[in-house]
Amino acid sequence: MNLFNLSGEVALVTGAGSGIGQAIAIGLAQAGADVACFGHDSRGGLEETAGRIEALGRRSLALTGTVTSEADLSAAISRIEKQLGPLTIAVNNAGIGGSDPAETMPVEKWDRIYDVNVKGVFLSCQAEARVMLARKKGSIINIASISGSIVNRDLTQAHYNSSKAAVIHLSKSLAMEWSRRGVRVNVVSPGYTLTPMNQGERNKVFAAGTPMGRLAEPEEMVGPTVFLASRASSFVTGLDVIVDGGFVCW
Ligand SMILES: NC(=O)c1ccc[n+]([C@@H]2O[C@H](COP(=O)([O-])OP(=O)(O)OC[C@H]3O[C@@H](n4cnc5c(N)ncnc54)[C@H](O)[C@@H]3O)[C@@H](O)[C@H]2O)c1
Repeated sequence: MNLFNLSGEVALVTGAGSGIGQAIAIGLAQAGADVACFGHDSRGGLEETAGRIEALGRRSLALTGTVTSEADLSAAISRIEKQLGPLTIAVNNAGIGGSDPAETMPVEKWDRIYDVNVKGVFLSCQAEARVMLARKKGSIINIASISGSIVNRDLTQAHYNSSKAAVIHLSKSLAMEWSRRGVRVNVVSPGYTLTPMNQGERNKVFAAGTPMGRLAEPEEMVGPTVFLASRASSFVTGLDVIVDGGFVCW
């Protein structure tokens, strides 16, 4: 289907060295895009993702940096534009979790989660939109979570939940600011997904609480992201696509 073909597009994925970001970066390349992988993965994940993209016959870059730094983001985008071409797709996936009862949560933990999950997504969108708005062409997809719409049963993560709600509303706000200027902003909100963030015994509880009876594979976030990145969603902006096996219905 031509509608979903990303040939000729240049994408950036943050947090592309593992989990959902890695799956999405490879998925965008399978749909035809050249894909730059940005992040601060010290275990060689970024290079692995870039290598797998190149093995598909697409071009890639592994760019080290943190989404909390304006300088890192703008240096990354300059390199992408110089080496791969005009940036047209961005997936802001980098994020961190945490578990801290609210009444004893150290303010440093609160600040850290908000720095990466909220400020990091805002700074990423800002840097990406600066080049996209100038050309009136771009699709930005922010990775939030079902935790931005519901409260996860038995998990003490007021910082994480509220940070993801902020990502959803931030995305809608930016979508409205840029709606007449060629840049669309949408959200993919995964449910419980099998990644380094989710390991161990409690996955049985997560699976039981999911109407489809299992966790998602990271690759199941690819289809919705390719849809939002592509011409197939040309009239879609400000949408939160919840990919959760039905979780938020219960
Ligand atoms: N796994 C789940 O069940 C689940 C559910 C809903 C939402 N999410 C969201 O999906 C996204 C990806 O999570 P994941 O499960 O793949 O976990 P993950 O830990 O595998 O991926 C997060 C990636 O972000 C990178 N990263 C972290 N802080 C960064 C920073 N400051 N700058 C640049 N890169 C940074 C990490 O190195 C890592 O590669 C996150 O935003 C997470 O909140 C995950």
